Amino acid sequence: MSAAALTSLSRCGVLAFRAPVGLVAVRYAQTAAAPAAQPRVKKFQVYRWDPDTPGDKPRMQTFEIDLNTCGPMVLDALIKIKNEMDPTLTFRRSCREGICGSCAMNINGGNTLACLNKIDTNTSKVTKIYPLPHMYVVKDLVPDMSNFYAQYKSIEPYLKKKDETQEGKEQYLQTVEDRQKLDGLYECILCACCSTSCPSYWWNGDKYLGPAVLMQAYRWMIDSRDEFTEERLSKLQDPFSLYRCHTIMNCTKTCPKGLNPGKAIAEIKKMMATYKEKKAAAV
Ligand SMILES: *[C@@H]1O[C@H](CO)[C@@H](O)[C@H](O)[C@H]1NC(C)=O
Ligand SMILES: *[C@@H]1O[C@H](CO)[C@@H](O)[C@H](O)[C@H]1NC(C)=O
Ligand code: SF4
Ligand code: SF4
Ligand code: FES
Repeated sequence: MSAAALTSLSRCGVLAFRAPVGLVAVRYAQTAAAPAAQPRVKKFQVYRWDPDTPGDKPRMQTFEIDLNTCGPMVLDALIKIKNEMDPTLTFRRSCREGICGSCAMNINGGNTLACLNKIDTNTSKVTKIYPLPHMYVVKDLVPDMSNFYAQYKSIEPYLKKKDETQEGKEQYLQTVEDRQKLDGLYECILCACCSTSCPSYWWNGDKYLGPAVLMQAYRWMIDSRDEFTEERLSKLQDPFSLYRCHTIMNCTKTCPKGLNPGKAIAEIKKMMATYKEKKAAAV
């Protein structure tokens, strides 16, 4: 449901609120003379840059929003700005519930999902919103994700079998224990908050795969049904793809889904050590 739909619901006497299962609407009896709430005006500073306007330079634009007329999340504020103040403001969003990963941005210095990030209701503090750091900007809050997606594609993020003749004939079964190994990995929504908080990725993003993509590489390496673990390891042996990670752990700190890509990278490094020993012994 859009913020506009939410507002119109409230207007006709239906209170909408967020619950763990989604959006719940509850009818309430409207009292005749409810006292008007004090406005709670908060400033939002938003990064603006439009490459289609010749000579346009990046700048911060300030918007003032009465929090009484806005939903609780930073994404609600952005949608309100776009609907009611400036339709040219550009950002990505889809699910508004932390599933699609498209609303990733830098809010008050941290990378996170705008739809899961509560507005700080202290009106004397300004909320500052930037695109994900160290990425090319397409417009306003929209980063260019091409390199990130190309890197994801490069790790072949799908099940691979040596014998493909059995493909599609029957299910590839997995024990409960083997399935549990994928917990904490498969939930990644590829929002790139972690990779774009990683200093190694900032400086070597062309050659270093970064935490999000490496965690998915690990997810396929340890899938009991996949038969290309060694090939997957062998592709990461160069000095950059994996070994640019210096365990700074910004990635794990920032993940809005509470995942631990830093740990996954450490696990790949362990597997790599074993793989290299094995290869050396075989020579
Ligand atoms: C709101 O923020 C200001 C400025 O940082 C601070 O001085 C004040 O204590 C905060 N108020 C509350 C209620 O947290
Ligand atoms: C990454 O971590 C360093 C050191 O802890 C910190 O100074 C820096 O602000 C962090 N960057 C981001 C984007 O989280
Ligand atoms: S642990 Fe590795 S991937 Fe995570 S922020 Fe640090 S250097 Fe980057
Ligand atoms: S590990 Fe977390 S921060 Fe990184 S891409 Fe996945 S969900 Fe986003
Ligand atoms: S809008 Fe989908 S994750 Fe925020």
